[in-house]
Amino acid sequence: MSEIKKLVRENILNLKPYSSARDEYSGQAGIFLDANENSLGSTINENVNRYPDPYQRKVKDKISAIKGIPSENIFLGNGSDEVIDLLIRAFCYPGKDEIIIMPPTYGMYSVSAEINNVGIKEVFLTSEYDMDVDKVLASVTDKTKLIFICSPNNPTGNCLKNEDIKRVINTFNGLVILDEAYIDFSEKKSFLKSLLTYPNLVIMQTFSKAWGLAGIRLGMAFADKFIIDIMNKIKPPYNVNELTQKKAIEALNNLELKNRMVDILLKERELLEKQLTKFDFVEKVYPTDSNFILVKTLNANKIYDYLVNKSIIVRNRSNISLCLNCLRITVGTKEENKLLIEALENY
Ligand SMILES: Cc1ncc(COP(=O)(O)O)c(C=O)c1O
Repeated sequence: MSEIKKLVRENILNLKPYSSARDEYSGQAGIFLDANENSLGSTINENVNRYPDPYQRKVKDKISAIKGIPSENIFLGNGSDEVIDLLIRAFCYPGKDEIIIMPPTYGMYSVSAEINNVGIKEVFLTSEYDMDVDKVLASVTDKTKLIFICSPNNPTGNCLKNEDIKRVINTFNGLVILDEAYIDFSEKKSFLKSLLTYPNLVIMQTFSKAWGLAGIRLGMAFADKFIIDIMNKIKPPYNVNELTQKKAIEALNNLELKNRMVDILLKERELLEKQLTKFDFVEKVYPTDSNFILVKTLNANKIYDYLVNKSIIVRNRSNISLCLNCLRITVGTKEENKLLIEALENY
């Protein structure tokens, strides 16, 4: 049995998945009387009376062409959040196994683990927000199935070091989930190019950030075909709806617009970083590879409340470890950033 196969929960390996109408017949033409849909049409001005393609083939083909990754190595979920949940469920026995996360980091890894009654080992980032690789590797036990690495990391904004990420992938016998939700905003290259050299690597990306499609809920996972097949086996049959698939294809045909928006946001980010640095109540503007900036202030709670009062909402991260008095500020439009800076000038 391959090393990865041994990591999968036995009940999942043995599972006979639900077979949907579109699994059993996926041809295009014909009279479809097999899925109890409404044959007359939809009650809205969209053709959505039919169930969508359960494997989102057209969307994956487009993603494949853009990313240079074969379609069979791509999984699509109802946001990356669904991918996180499916991986935990496929690989971790509830009440027995555990995952490793590196706080401060994205909150859903631990929430998903808790929902599934899976243990969480926290190995904090260093004070410079780098990975403590030795500690991560020393924390691995035979119960550790997944290690989540977020790079660029939320809420700190920075990329973790490539050599640290590689060391974990090369040393750990379980699965490494590399969350690249913000990679479009980074000068560092994605790990996608070397994906297929690592059978234990899952890379997550999302349409929610650079693509500007948080509302349609579409997350991507890239991995060895064996892992993709396991996720397909346990996902709800129609986890990505028809409208989302349509809109994703529209977006993927508009790659240039995504790139232009990223360029604008990066210019705005640079300006915002410079402006934030000059305030005497700002202790540190952390370097960022994302579309947000973490800022250490003298009194985050007071500044947060002051901004809310001016109808400007930032994220107060002050009460999470290593982020005392920190605010996380998403880069807005030129006008929004100007209003933020003007408000802070009057603080
Ligand atoms: C690091 C990271 N991963 C994943 C997500 C969630 O992505 P999605 O909208 O695709 O569920 C977020 C959302 O903020 C995030 O910050």
